[in-house]
Amino acid sequence: MRKYLIEGGHRLTGTVEISGAKNSALKLLAASIMGDGTTRLSGIPRISDVQTMCEVLGNLGIRIKEEKNGDILINPSSLKKYEAPYELVRRMRASILVMGPLLSRLGRARIAMPGGCNIGSRQIDLHLKGLACLGAEFSLGHGYIDVNANNGLRGGEVYLDFPSVGATENVLMAAVMAKGTTVVSNAAREPEICDLANFLNSMGAQIEGIGTSTIQIEGVKELHGTEYRVIPDRIETGTLITATVITGGDVLIKNTQAKNLEIVISKYSHCGVEFNYAGDELRVVCNGRIKPTDISTLPYPGFPTDLQAISVALLSLADGVSVITENVFDNRFMYVDELNRMGANIKVRGHQAAIIGVEKLSSAPVRATDLRAGAALSIAALAAEGVTEISDIEHIERGYENFDEKLSRLGARIKRVK
Ligand code: EPZ
Repeated sequence: MRKYLIEGGHRLTGTVEISGAKNSALKLLAASIMGDGTTRLSGIPRISDVQTMCEVLGNLGIRIKEEKNGDILINPSSLKKYEAPYELVRRMRASILVMGPLLSRLGRARIAMPGGCNIGSRQIDLHLKGLACLGAEFSLGHGYIDVNANNGLRGGEVYLDFPSVGATENVLMAAVMAKGTTVVSNAAREPEICDLANFLNSMGAQIEGIGTSTIQIEGVKELHGTEYRVIPDRIETGTLITATVITGGDVLIKNTQAKNLEIVISKYSHCGVEFNYAGDELRVVCNGRIKPTDISTLPYPGFPTDLQAISVALLSLADGVSVITENVFDNRFMYVDELNRMGANIKVRGHQAAIIGVEKLSSAPVRATDLRAGAALSIAALAAEGVTEISDIEHIERGYENFDEKLSRLGARIKRVK
């Protein structure tokens, strides 16, 4: 298992460029299989989750080519299989997002049931309920879901009990070539959903209401290949902002979209952080200890659950008590025990955590339990006294491109060791 060794106490300064959004790139890759013709995707981050999604597509018979400049070409003409096997779904839950595209293209899909993970149970009932409104039928057995639309998909009214990101995406991808009109109510509004909808429209889809909670889709006969650049990763932006703040640094972040992080910028500003942003650049400066604040995670445009652990790491050093409420996942405080081993003083009760700010953190051997927990521990280590050893960093590298190199270039003392 690879580890990071991070020596705390070094201010982050300089400039860093944000990579493409993991939580959009994976869906654009899945959606590209619906095109009659080759699609070129640019700005796709080189991370292991993208490699896994490329394996999922390869397993379906699709030809994928990575060019020297990092662009990925997808030629779906050789699509022949319709199964996402357990070993791939177990490795990456987002593999289930080929369900909608396969239903659209082939009228059937066989998808392994995703298990739970380190942040909660993560059902797919809303995916299945939404697809059923478009005429899909299911049978479950031996850990797999067989989905069929023998008479083709037809447009319908879909009401999502919860604005699930994945369910919105699967329904959207199933609706774009269904016969007739689909209206999705209580749809998720994350920027990654907008990116997927804009991508599908660039392939010839007819989607309206993008960015709102009511999306209307007119089914079309076919989609064509396209060329598209994925949006910057707002969660990576939030991660690097937090790393800057916890070290009392001054960093210019490039290739980002501050408008997708308004609530985070507002929250951190109240804690005493200075922001200046224009166009695709954002400067973050922090002098001195931050004030505490309360955070409740919510679907977009609320505070993103993916920045919950990362903001808790920061607030563990705040000058007072903060209360965090996790409203999206049912078990997303697993990392707290690891942070407390570094000297944080955090108490978890159900969906809430009380963070009593301490003067300092100290190094300790800790373990990344999931992608964002690993990022949170790395951020805590940047401010902790001594050298912190973080193991199981494969979690971090599935979602952050060149994580250690970016931090090193900003002045962090971080080493990647076996
Ligand atoms: C996406 O996961 C992201 N992953 C997650 O990011 C992110 O935390 C999440 O959206 C919320 O923003 C990708 O985009 C690959 P959901 P997803 O469906 O689609 C429950 C990261 O760190 N639910 O909005 O799985 C579910 O259990 C990852 O990058 C159902 O009950 O999120 C959860 O409690 C982590 N039934 C809540 O909804 C369903 O059918 C949110 O899930 C679907 C979801």
